[in-house]
Parts: sequence; structure tokens; C-alpha cells
Amino acid sequence: MDAAGLAPRGVERARVPGPVTGVEPGPGGGVVRFARSELRVRVTTGGAVFWGWDGAEPDPSYALVSGSPEADPRAVLEPDKEGGWRVVSERATVVVSRHGAVELRTPGGLMLRRDLPPRWWEPVGGGAARWLQRSQVAADARFFGLGGRAQGPRLRTGTYRLWNTDPGGSFGPGDGPLYITMPVQLVVADVGSHLVFHDNTWDGTVVVREGEEGAGSGHDRAGSCEVRMDGGPLRCWVMVGTPARVLHTWASLTGPPALPPAWALGHHHARWGFGGEQEVRRIVAGYRERGLPLDAVHLDIDHYEEHQVFTVDKETYPHLPQLADELLKDGVRLVSIVDPAVKAEPGNEVYDSGRATDAFVRDASGRTVHGVVWPGRAVYPDFTDARVRTWWGGLYKERLAQGFAGFWHDMNEPVSFAAFGEPTLPRSARHALEGRGGDHREAHNVYGLAMARAGYEGLRELHPQERPFLFSRSGWAGMQRYGGTWSGDVATGWPGLRASLSLVLGLGLCGVPYSGPDVGGFDGSPSPELYLRWFQLGSYLPLFRTHAALRAGRREPWEFGPDVLEHARVALVERRRLLPYFVTLAHLARRTGTPYVRPLWWGCPEDRALRDCEDAFLLGDCLLVAPVFEPGAVRRTVRLPPGRWYDTATGQAYEGPARVLLEAPLSRIPVLARAGAVLPVRGADGGIELEVWAPAPGRTGGGLVVRDAGDGWEQPEIERFTARWIGGRVVVERDGRAAEDAGEAAGEVGLRVTVRGIPQGQM
Ligand code: NOJ
Repeated sequence: MDAAGLAPRGVERARVPGPVTGVEPGPGGGVVRFARSELRVRVTTGGAVFWGWDGAEPDPSYALVSGSPEADPRAVLEPDKEGGWRVVSERATVVVSRHGAVELRTPGGLMLRRDLPPRWWEPVGGGAARWLQRSQVAADARFFGLGGRAQGPRLRTGTYRLWNTDPGGSFGPGDGPLYITMPVQLVVADVGSHLVFHDNTWDGTVVVREGEEGAGSGHDRAGSCEVRMDGGPLRCWVMVGTPARVLHTWASLTGPPALPPAWALGHHHARWGFGGEQEVRRIVAGYRERGLPLDAVHLDIDHYEEHQVFTVDKETYPHLPQLADELLKDGVRLVSIVDPAVKAEPGNEVYDSGRATDAFVRDASGRTVHGVVWPGRAVYPDFTDARVRTWWGGLYKERLAQGFAGFWHDMNEPVSFAAFGEPTLPRSARHALEGRGGDHREAHNVYGLAMARAGYEGLRELHPQERPFLFSRSGWAGMQRYGGTWSGDVATGWPGLRASLSLVLGLGLCGVPYSGPDVGGFDGSPSPELYLRWFQLGSYLPLFRTHAALRAGRREPWEFGPDVLEHARVALVERRRLLPYFVTLAHLARRTGTPYVRPLWWGCPEDRALRDCEDAFLLGDCLLVAPVFEPGAVRRTVRLPPGRWYDTATGQAYEGPARVLLEAPLSRIPVLARAGAVLPVRGADGGIELEVWAPAPGRTGGGLVVRDAGDGWEQPEIERFTARWIGGRVVVERDGRAAEDAGEAAGEVGLRVTVRGIPQGQM
């Protein structure tokens, strides 16, 4: 199909910008003209800086939530040294050399990134130009991001492809690309942090080379990065500042993360192949009888009739709406998988209505493109067409009528099983691309994103009073607007456990805060120990879900012996206790773009040792979680950021920065609380209480709380609490109103307060 549908590239001509020929000031900067190209620089009011070559503008873009922010009128183009030009703004300076090198500097003039003049290769006979952008960063810089990567979160020297891919089986840390790739790099160096986003959806590669600092008299070798794209515009957005500021700016540009309903922050149990309603009942009863909290059950493709999306197999699920009602009484929601490919069979309602809407992707000669997925021969909706999104969004009505409360988008890279070559649509397949028209080379990476938009907008129409719960295997920059993701088919094994955390951390740094792995791994059977360690990690991640493949071993907590059951119960109960904290983190992610799960260097990116620390994470501002990744380990070292930290199990205080050895018996993984932390937890009566960790002597602490137990659209206020020592006691204040400490109902703050971390004798 591609041989017929794509013109051969033929002879190509290389091009570089050439010398500068003039400038044209414009809003937020202007255009610098070169002999063979031009560069537009625009500082915007939110602090993000855009630059684009060859006339590229910020729009159209699949990433931006509402087009380009306004230009900052204070930023102007002014002459620089040696015939170059610069734009000075509050947060960054952009310096353009007379041959088209572009430097990003801090307001103090230090270099964050230097882009060399780009290079294009243009087919002489016409067609998309390929391009290459080489950049240099500081020798000590570390790279993060590029979407969901199994081998991170630090992206070491290597080649990273930008093409959303189902690895076709379970993946481990060495595999990539995976389901979500994004041209988003977060670069952290002593000089400062910046995020750069190449707004281009085409197939590309990023070659990262970490730099090296010369020891003694040796020279530094700068870090470098090459972005190559097979087509599409050469344009980027950069953001400068602390990690928190950078992610905030990124979320303002690409949209605030969707807020999951509170129940979606609980525990989910999935399985490919429950086999029917009775088994679902048995599992739910299994949780209930053993006193294990459960909030959602996910039904995979086996509940469809012949694997056809938006249908139900009436033999195995004869009374699905009743089942959904019954489970809801126990506080358990049903979540449905939704695959994009539609069985190509006249008489199948979805297929017929799609044909009537002209919804399916066609080839260059106008014939519908067919692929093969679970239902057999299938066709693919073109989600890059607003009309098709509306049609697809309406189909969720059937799901809602079945009683489903949430949606799990799968196989949307999109996948077509292939004996050889790439398991997706042909590159020549045509897409509407919002009316511009184009082919799969440009649409592939945003297929999952556009499907998420279709589902999200459809659900908002169908069920306006509830916030949709949706998570998607594939996606791209901006996908957080519609929901989260999960880590896909992670291989069962200790390396897969590590990869799970890498994915969650990396995605968070790309602006997608809600994700989590298949606890236990997707395939095979984890050992009881591995299952437990995965369960313990998962219980501190935003999406906490057990799931497994069709013929894989069981994943219920009681299938691994009484010890594992007991320890899993502790993890589940603790997750439920921390629910108000997770809800608060979800609201903060929505308002600030800050992910729930953050690397240890989040608050001190200048700490090089923390920058390289990949085996622990911060959960919000208050907690540090140190999972166990090694079989047989019952203690582990933990690198602490500066300040005092308490082991929450023992109450023992440690002073960071430091490396400490902590006990990690099978019953728990080390979790530390920051001194001064005020975190909302669920009390025995189900109400919210405050858990306060004593500030270090002479210090104060604090925390934010958002009270929201629901799934609607109301915007609860953020309550701020401070904790301080007054006269030998820890006092908690809200809006200046003080309350006594230590376990008493605290009338003034309106919440029960428990202070922890006070040495015996000081209470
Ligand atoms: C692939 C998904 O990644 C997995 O989670 C799911 O169980 C299977 N497809 C079957 O739907």
C-alpha cells in the first residue's frame, strides 16, 4: 500500500539557514531572516518561549490546549554581538547567532542549551523535508522524559525513537519505543532546568549523549542531543525555571490534567479472561470477605461479543447492568476496555454506523484500510476528524447503559497485527488531520490522543454531571487533558518491577501525572515475593491496579499464601487511609501540573547525587517511598534529600542529605515522612484527619488539603495548614487559627490532628 501511496523520496538536497539577512520585529520577539530560512521567536505571557523555522507557527498543534498563549509585549528583538540577535524576557534569554545557532540562557546569562543551525533534506521532486537539530547542554546535565520509557527515568546515552509502538508481547527495561512517545525533554543541570518540546508528531529519533566533566585538569565534554524528524515543522517550545515552574508552564500550555473521580484513586482489579459474571462476583466477594478494600473491577475484551468493541457477550455476561448495580452497592465500579478497531462485518452496528458516517481510515486511492486485531479483519476510525470523534463519543452511551463508570483505551497506537514490519497502519493511510489532510506518518503518534479526546468529550456530553474516568495505553503530549495511562504489558520479573516506576516517573515529567503498572506484571506468574513487592510499590502510585494476561497466573492477593495476603492487606488499608492525600495530589496536579509521583531531585535539582537516584520517589511533598527491587532484600539504602525525614514505621528521624540503611521486611517498604509535613488521611470513621510530622526544632512545616470525596465538577478550595513548635508543643494552624496537637479533636482547625515524630519524653 505504501509503495503505491507514498512517492519515493528520490534525490534530496541538504539545506542550512545560511547567513542572517535581516529581521522583522513582531509581538514577543519577531522574525530573524537568513539566506535560506527564517526563524520566528515569540516569548509568551505564561513564560514559555516558542521558536519555529521556515515560517512554522505554534498552530496547528495537537499538544496545545487552546492555541498559542499571547505574546509578551515586553519581549523585543534587539541586536546582539557579532551580527546576531536576541530576545530578552523575564525568565529566559534567546540569542540567535548570525548563522542560526540558537542559545537559551538564564536571565543571568548562563547557557542552558545551544541549538546548532538546523539542517534539512528536501526531496528535489517535492515532499516532506527531513530535518536534524543538534543541541548542546552542560556536561553535568541529565535528560528525562521522551514519554513512557522502560529504561529510565534518567535517559542515558542512547537512541530513543519517537513512534508509538506496541512492543508485541511483554516488555522489559531494554525495550522501546513503547506505547507513548513524546518529543518532550526535561533537562536538569546545575545551571538550571528547562523543558523543550519539539511540536512535531512525525516519526523521529532522539540521540542523547550525556556529557562528562573533566576530572582534574581534563576538559568537560558537553552533553548533546540530536533530534531527527522524518517530516513536519521544526518548531519548539522551551520553558525555564525550577522543575515545579517548568511543569506548571507545560500544563498551562498543554492543558491541566483531568481530575480522576475519587474512587479511581483506590484499588482496581483487572484480568483478561474473568470468563463471566460469576467469576467477577467471586473475586469481589473474595476481597470483601477478607476485608480487602476494592474500588473497581476492569473487564477486558473477553466480555465483548466476538471481541467486538461496544458489545457484550450475553452468554457470559447476561445481566451486566444488574451486576454493575450490585457491585456499586459494595462501592465497586466497573471499568470497560475500549479498543478502536471495529470488526469489518456488515450487520455489526458499530461498523454500519461508522460506514454511514464515513468514519474509517482510507488509503490514498480512497479504499478503506483494513487491519487485523482481536475481532479479526477490522477498520479504524479516523479520530483526527472532529465528525468522527463526535460519532465515536456517542457510542459510549451503550457502555454507560451497561453500567460502566470508567474506560480503559487499549490497542490505540493503533495496532494491526503484522507478520513482519510494523504492527500498525500503513504510513500512506490518509487522515483528516482536522481538515488539513495528511497521512499516517503525521497522524500515527496522535491517534491515541485523538481517541482519548473523542471518548472524553463524548462522556462529558453523555454524563455532564460526572467527571469522566479514562486512561489510555497510547497518547502524546497533552493526553493528560483527557485522563491518564498505565504502563502496558510490563514483563513479570524483577526488571519489570523497576521499569514500572521508571514509566510512572518519566510520564509525570512529561505532564501525565496519573499512571501505574499492572501489579504483578502482565504475563506469567510472579513469585509471591515479587507479587508482594509490586503490590507495595503499586499502592503508592496514582493508578493502583492488578492485571494479567489471558493465560497468566492469578493476581488476587489471597493466591500467594497467608503471609502475602496479610502484607497486601496492610498495603491496601494504608492506601485507603491515604486516599484524602491522593485526592489532594490529584487536585494539585490539575492546578499546577506537578505530578503526584516525583523524582527525589524535585525540590533540589542541583543535587547531583539525587539526580542519578532512580530507585525511590517522592509522593507529593510529604512522603518519600523507597520500593524494594531486589529479591531477598529485607533492608535497603535510601538517599535522602536535605532536611529531616522520619521512617513512618519506626518514627526514627534521619537528617538529609544522607544515605541511610532502612529495614524493609516483607511486611512493608520504607516510607519516610518529611519533618513538618501535614497530610490529610482517612480516619477510622471515614472522615478526614490530619497527620502531622513534627517539624525539626526551630523549623516550621505545612501542607495543603483539598477535601473532595466525589466525582463531580465542583472546585473545592485548597486549605493551607502550618505546623510549628510553640512552647514545646507542635501546633497546627489553618488560616491563622491554631489548634492543640497530639490526638485531640482540634476544634479550631476543624479536623482531628495527630502529631507524630515527637521523641518520647517530649510529648
Ligand atoms: C493489550 C493490553 O495492553 C492488555 O492490558 C490487555 O489485557 C490486552 N490487550 C487484551 O485486551
